[in-house]
Amino acid sequence: MVDLTLRFENPTLFYVGAEAEVYRAKWYGIDVVIKRRIPKPYRIKELDEEIRFRRTMREAKILHYAKKAGVPTPTVYFLDPTNSTIIMNFIEGERTREALSKFTGEERVRKIELIGVYTGRLHQAGIQHGDLTTSNMILTEDGRIFIVDFGLGAFTNEVEDMAVDLILFRRALMSTHYMFAEECFKAFLRGYASIRGRKIADKVLDKAREVEKRGRYVIRS
Ligand SMILES: Nc1ncnc2c1ncn2[C@@H]1O[C@H](COP(=O)(O)OP(=O)(O)O)[C@@H](O)[C@H]1O
Ligand SMILES: [Mg+2]
Repeated sequence: MVDLTLRFENPTLFYVGAEAEVYRAKWYGIDVVIKRRIPKPYRIKELDEEIRFRRTMREAKILHYAKKAGVPTPTVYFLDPTNSTIIMNFIEGERTREALSKFTGEERVRKIELIGVYTGRLHQAGIQHGDLTTSNMILTEDGRIFIVDFGLGAFTNEVEDMAVDLILFRRALMSTHYMFAEECFKAFLRGYASIRGRKIADKVLDKAREVEKRGRYVIRS
């Protein structure tokens, strides 16, 4: 196999998460991000490889379909599932999680409404994000919000799967933007309903409440 790393210039590690290492580099003159899922020593080797392979494939596939659905996502340049690696374009911007606190109330509401619109488009296209938090959204200077990290996503039309996205997003707001979480969640729902229609939006919201009351939801592996 060709060692692609030979083609990278100045790879710098800029994020180490629970699951992946994310590098920034120049690749054939383009600003790219290399996301590599790292082996988990506590998992059985074969199972670990299988999980990383599957999540990498899923992430690349959903990045593409999300873009087709009108949601800004990085473009995948190269996919190497055997090494659980995706090379995609680097999105210049700020994580929404940090950016939100700097905004005026009005700006914040507008941005969150846009996240609601994008989430509505994902769901309308039969895509569940699976880890919908403001850490997985990058705000660019031109006002778009890129959504990343689809490794736990799924192609589905189940109301319950969509409800999980709403629950996760609301929880993320509560934990990081507590002061304006409720106001933001309302704005999110406005954006969401503008795409999905009031009836479906209410159905998903009702399901979210029901699932939360039940106190558990399934996280996909
Ligand atoms: N294409 C990209 N362009 C710029 N930053 C990115 C890109 N992809 C990921 N990131 C940054 O790296 C962080 C981790 O990537 P992510 O896909 O969320 O990994 P993890 O699955 O470990 O959470 C993101 O929160 C984001 O800040
Ligand atoms: Mg992430």
